[in-house]
Amino acid sequence: MRLCTVNELEDPGSKGFHNERGHIFAVRKGQQVYVYENSCPHYGINLEWQPDQFLDSEKRLIQCATHGAQFLMHTGECIAGPCPGDKLTAISCEIRDGVVYLL
Ligand code: FES
Repeated sequence: MRLCTVNELEDPGSKGFHNERGHIFAVRKGQQVYVYENSCPHYGINLEWQPDQFLDSEKRLIQCATHGAQFLMHTGECIAGPCPGDKLTAISCEIRDGVVYLL
């Protein structure tokens, strides 16, 4: 399933989507794109307060707006905040010709 083009995502940056896979979001770092379910493992709620804002102020980590849990972009593992070691649920994707597809 086509999600978006890589260039629709800022670098680094993030974007939320609501489609038949539910609430999900994509984060981009360079030419890498990672997609996760938009559900914080701490409380099971959406991570963002502002549309498309899933990263910390330095745009190095994914951050939950509610209690500040921070997650590695490439694994979704929580490394700081209230749920260390928990993981965001990753959605497999691939990039073909500059387009991100969910698998
Ligand atoms: S709900 Fe995300 S850190 Fe608490």
